[in-house]
Amino acid sequence: MATNPSTAAVTDTGYRLTRLNLACQPASSGTKSTIMIPSTTDTALTTSTCSATSTTISTRAYDIIAHTNPTVKFDRLVAADRYDKQSNPNGIINLGTAENKLCADILSKKLAEFQHKPEEETLNYYPQLKGAPSFRSAVAKFIELHFKANHRIDPENLVVLCGTTPVLETLSFAVAEHGDYFMIPTPYYHRIYNDINDRAGINSLNVPLYGMEGDINKAYDLTRAAFEKTYEDAVTKGLKVKGIVLLSPHNPTGDIYTKDQLVDILNFANKYKLHVIMDEIYALSVFDTYKDNFTSVLQLDVPDPDRVHVVWGFSKDFGLSGYRVGCVYSRNQQLIKYFETTAIFAMPAAPILQRLEYLISDTDWVEKDYLPVYQRRLRESFDVVKQRLEKHGIRVYPSQASFFIWADVTKYMRERSFKAEEELLSRILQAKVYVMTGQHNYSCEPGWLRIIFSVNREQLNIGLDRIESVLFKIEKEQADKPEHISRL
Ligand SMILES: Cc1ncc(COP(=O)(O)O)c(C=O)c1O
Repeated sequence: MATNPSTAAVTDTGYRLTRLNLACQPASSGTKSTIMIPSTTDTALTTSTCSATSTTISTRAYDIIAHTNPTVKFDRLVAADRYDKQSNPNGIINLGTAENKLCADILSKKLAEFQHKPEEETLNYYPQLKGAPSFRSAVAKFIELHFKANHRIDPENLVVLCGTTPVLETLSFAVAEHGDYFMIPTPYYHRIYNDINDRAGINSLNVPLYGMEGDINKAYDLTRAAFEKTYEDAVTKGLKVKGIVLLSPHNPTGDIYTKDQLVDILNFANKYKLHVIMDEIYALSVFDTYKDNFTSVLQLDVPDPDRVHVVWGFSKDFGLSGYRVGCVYSRNQQLIKYFETTAIFAMPAAPILQRLEYLISDTDWVEKDYLPVYQRRLRESFDVVKQRLEKHGIRVYPSQASFFIWADVTKYMRERSFKAEEELLSRILQAKVYVMTGQHNYSCEPGWLRIIFSVNREQLNIGLDRIESVLFKIEKEQADKPEHISRL
């Protein structure tokens, strides 16, 4: 089969993507970096069905569908066989999509109180490009209060889009040129690569952080030295580095960067005039035991305010990923103008914004009824999964926030390799649980799984029972053939 010359990773055996271990290396300019999808499920996970020669779409659109995209592949897989207690009890339990269902009871009660006023016919027509002014004012007040900003959040510096995903894409397009690089510490939320690369054409320059060796409590240490080294190596190779993407609280580790770490990275960015895209979408998803640990970049005196941009949305902290609402806050007026100019491509619906405004404007409800329960339930669910995995001798990263168990599963792998990681994933998928591997999340070391714990407790328990059944089988196989352990 003919290959698309601009898609280096497509082979003549079909769209089976070669593995480039890009977690620790930059992709060369113009080349898409790829990650490996479990081979046993390749057919089910393949995105593209057309060939380069017969394509009826543009080369750039073709490049995007031919490139590995875990979101599309797993969305199809789960949708085809979704668990339902009554109609499909043997279906797939989804512990892979970062959704938050922990407080669905509290949220649906609150949203049911909301009365849409039919006489508000302004809702029927185009809203202001940046987002309805009253909504932006409500978000500005909300962020100022809950992120403990050290300055007034001006609603004019906020633009609302349908999700933080289009916000990240728009930012990438706006602050760098096609082929430039953004530095991203590994591991990281798998979509970041698609968000910056698919259409904006920005490459990832991965800053490798490690978690496998030594004390897990000291893993993934974010230091300026790691950034300096990666930056110098990249510049020596002639790569154009334009920005940094930071996630705090972090997906998948659940880390919260300290004030000192943030200041160090901001100073590093300022030295080289790099933009800092600060994704704080999990800002309020902090376990109750650590609730005062989160430092927003908005609390700091940033050295270059024109190059620091904060991203937040309703998908995580309020578990409303179906509403599709996210925003950017930036003091860079040209950037805000660019967002305003292109906002019409990705505007949320006015009635949705009105409902969300109702929710976040009730500060008493947020502070007294919602957050304490939410943050307690987060920690409780984390503990349930952690304890069950630790019984099997699995090391769990000491997360402080977000929805993820980041687990070192090397013990259950045939060898310490990405291939063996995929094999373990295949067995878990065969047991009808969807989770993600470390490699999907650009870990530079094999051996990790990411498990979402923010689903309802009944499904979480079924998912864990199924994962445990796989672990028990492997334990038995290892007892029968103990020599594999010495290979790790
Ligand atoms: C760190 C991070 N940023 C952004 C998003 C995307 O959120 P949205 O639903 O607002 O597009 C996610 C979703 O998993 C995420 O984990």
